[in-house]
Parts: sequence; structure tokens; C-alpha cells
Amino acid sequence: MLYDVIVVGSGISGLYAALSAKRSGQNVALICKSSPLRSNSAVASGGINAVLKTTRHDSFREHIADTIKGADKLGRFSTVSAMVTGAEDIINELLEMGVVFDRSEDGSVSQRPFGGTKAKRTCYIADKTGAAITQTLLVQCRKEGVKIFQNHMMLSIATYKNQLSGITILRRRNSQVIAFACKTLILAGGGYAGIYRGHSTNSQESSGDIIAIALRAKMRLANMEFVQFHPTTLLNSGTLISEAARGEGAYIVDESGVRFTDELQTRDKLSRDIAKHQLAGHSVYLDFRHLGEELIDKKLPSARKHALNGAGIDILTELLPITPSAHYTMGGIWSRNDTSTDIPNVFVCGECAHSGVHGANRLGGNSLLEAAFFGKVAGIEASKSAKKGIFHPIDYAQVAQELRYVDMIIEGDNRFNINTMRRNLGNNLYKNAGVFRTHDTLANALEYVHYLMKMSSGLCCVNKERNDNVELMSIIELRNSLTVAEAMLMSALSREESRGVHYRDDFPQSDENNYEVNTIVRRLAGTFLRITFEGHLSSDWWYRIRQFFHAL
Ligand code: FUM
Repeated sequence: MLYDVIVVGSGISGLYAALSAKRSGQNVALICKSSPLRSNSAVASGGINAVLKTTRHDSFREHIADTIKGADKLGRFSTVSAMVTGAEDIINELLEMGVVFDRSEDGSVSQRPFGGTKAKRTCYIADKTGAAITQTLLVQCRKEGVKIFQNHMMLSIATYKNQLSGITILRRRNSQVIAFACKTLILAGGGYAGIYRGHSTNSQESSGDIIAIALRAKMRLANMEFVQFHPTTLLNSGTLISEAARGEGAYIVDESGVRFTDELQTRDKLSRDIAKHQLAGHSVYLDFRHLGEELIDKKLPSARKHALNGAGIDILTELLPITPSAHYTMGGIWSRNDTSTDIPNVFVCGECAHSGVHGANRLGGNSLLEAAFFGKVAGIEASKSAKKGIFHPIDYAQVAQELRYVDMIIEGDNRFNINTMRRNLGNNLYKNAGVFRTHDTLANALEYVHYLMKMSSGLCCVNKERNDNVELMSIIELRNSLTVAEAMLMSALSREESRGVHYRDDFPQSDENNYEVNTIVRRLAGTFLRITFEGHLSSDWWYRIRQFFHAL
């Protein structure tokens, strides 16, 4: 099948990108590996940041300053500034599409405070913001004629003489490997916090596939060590209790009812305060009891529901036990301000991208904004390229190679238990590459990842059925997770300082002389990874020259 633009991923960035490309007149396919409503965007509940004309006591300047400060000196000013100044347009577009943001009494869009700022900047729909925006965008995509392929898992970027020609895909229905041709490709497949299985707010499908695919295609990754732990997730399941709770005034207390931290500080610091308190032997809770039933049911209905379903606790009368869990990854596929990447005609947006906005730590409410804003940019840029571009032939040797890979997993003899391996990976990463890490813990995790990599070649399907074989997808996901985990751990080992969410007990200070730069991962020959440190867009002059001649 031939499409001008293929978008992979169906969170807010992918949907926005697909919609923008479609509205620019392109023939667009959207590929998602399960259902579009299972993305991390749909889980991010608390809100989307924007300075609006009606916003009081806030400004672009402050939003930019808060974002840069939160990013702990690794934010890219130009991208932050573009996103912040474009935020109101995004909110207005979403309103036009039918997103029903909560309103204040004067009719303006309501805004709540989130961590890392004193301003009320976060627009919301109760505590279901991500899901509400996702649903609206999905309806729009369908209405405008974006062709949506659910249960299709991307396997690789197809190239012909080093030019993008399309992608290879595993069709889950019958385990067939197929290829779609395209002129431009937008990768929007989400982050990799899900590799901390059992200790993550992410859905089970979040395994960093797209980032692993990009690395295999020799694209650069950046800042992979920066994994954000959300401070307030249910103790035993990692289910997210939105920052909206603290924005609306919930307290964080210990077993004696003592508030030991500032609830609205940035997530990196708050997670560390909570983890430290736990290490000192305390239990930590969210306390909603003073907020009252009316406010809770109006503004925090999901928090109440998750607490009841996930922990059997009624937050009206009881304390809710919480702990930090892996939530969001700042690292990802290296990209420029216009979302272009190392491969011409391949664009990237959303959590799988390293856009340079979040640096070493993201502010709550900025992810949905980043997803929507850069999704739109990617859709527009990909369309521009598609208009000038041509289709290149698919190299069927590559498809045959993917086919053999899938056949080997289905037909081979299984020697290990996939579920145990996935859980063990999550447990090991949480323990060794968690809120606190040292050289020794990271090296231990890396050794374990290498061990699992060796074992994973002996992972094959027990169920040999080709129709809807869930096991097949899980094995491919685990292998992708291991690829991503290796890049993340090697980056974390290389950054011998503490910055943002990356806190090294053995290097507790920031080192501005050596590390105020991005960590870059490249795949060299074979599977060998090389880590270097680079400033923003250090190698961009080639791109600018090419752009200049292209525009003539
Ligand atoms: O807490 C939350 O609602 C998460 C929001 C976000 O990650 O931006």
C-alpha cells in the first residue's frame, strides 16, 4: 500500500500529526500496535499547559522560564519558546474540534496549578484530560479520512539506497509481515518508561519499540538516562494518581500525618523526597480528606475511582498509600526544531522524540502540550516534504528478513518464560536505575540486561497459532525493551553527575563544566553502542546547507 505520509503511534502527537498532514492534503495512514485509546497520552490525566489571553498572573516569559528551570539547564530555548508561544493556538484548535475543557464561572477555560510553577497554567477536563483529547482527535482523524490500522506493529524502517521507502509491519491478526510504502514517515510511538514493568504508570504495550527501531536504523538517540518518576502512584500497582490531586490541594503525608515536603515542587525533587522518606522507614500517603466530596467528585473523579478499584480505599475518609513509579522519558530519538531527524523524510514527535523541550526533567502538563504542538509541526513538515518527494521501491530482501525473524520466533523451541523475564527486567531497573542510582547499581543492571539479551534469543512462542498471537508481540517487545534499556543504562553510566531526574549518589552535584550537554547514543557496526556528549544541534550545519539548496 502507498501513502504520502505514514504516522506510527496513536497518542496525542501521532493523532495530531496525522490530522495536520491530512488537512494539508496528504494521503495519510496511522499505524497503531493496539487500540488508539491505550496510549500514554490517554493516561496523562492532569492537564495541558498554556498561557491564555484570559490567564491571570502568568506570561510566556514565565512559562518559558519555568520550563527551562525544570529542565535543569538542558532545555533547548528555541523549541521551548516555540511551544510556549504556540500553546494558545493549540487550546483553541482543540476547543474548535470539540474538546470540552472545564470552564470557570466567567466562561473562560479553567486552569489549575501544577508542579514547578506558581502560576495557574494547566487547562484540564477534570482529571481525564489526556483521554478526552485523544478521543476528540481520533474522531477528527476518522472524520477527515485518515486510514487507521489498529493492531499493526511496526518492525523496521524500510530504505532503498539510503532513502526512506516505507516501513515493515507485523499484522497481528495473522502474524503476516507486510510493507507499506510512503514518501514521509512520522514516528510518534511513545516513550520507554514501560520497560520498568510493575513499577510504571505506562500501559503494558509501552516498550520503547519505536526508539529501538530508530537505533537499529542508525538514528541518534539523546538523553536516554533521563527517566521521570511520577511521585504519586498507587503503592502496589504503579497506577497514576494525577498531579491534579496536588494541584487541587491534596497533601503528601507520612504515617504520622506529617507533611514533610512541598507538594508542588518539580517531580524530580518530590520523587526524591518521597523515596528518601521511604528509605528512612516511613510510609507515604496522599491525603484528600480535607478537600470534601463535592470537589473530589467534580475535579478528581478518576483519582477516587483508581483508589477504590486499585487499592480498595475511599479517599474521602482514608489515606492513600503511594510511591514514585517510572512515568515519562525525556530521552528519545534525536530531532531538530522542525521534528526532522537523521534520516531525510523521517520526522519524530511526542515522547519517543528528544525535542529538547524537557531537558533533564519535564514539568507536569508540558507533555500533552509538547505532543500536540510538535505533532502538528511534524504533520505540516512531513506534508511539505511529501509534496516534493517521490516513492522509492521497497527492498523485499528486508521484508524477507523480517519474515524469517518472525517465523523463527513462532516456530523455534521456547526455553524461557517471557513473563518472568519482563517482570525481572522491570524489578531490576527499578532497583538499580531508579530514583537514586550509582555506578555500581547501573553496572549491575547493565550486566543483567546483557544476560537477558543472551537469553532472549531462546524465547519463542509456546503457542504456535498464527492468528492473534499475543505471545509473538510480547517477545518482540521484550527484545526492543532490552535494546532501549542498554542505551539508557550506558547513558546513565556515562553521565557522572546529578541533574534533573538523573540522581547519582556517587556524583551528587551537577557538573556544569563537563555535562551541560546532551548524551548521544549511536549504534556502530554490529550492535555496539557509542556514547558521546554534544551541545544542541552541534552537527546541524549540513542540514541547514541542504535545506538552503532544497529551497532554491
Ligand atoms: O499527573 C498527571 O496527570 C500527569 C500529567 C503529565 O504527565 O503531564
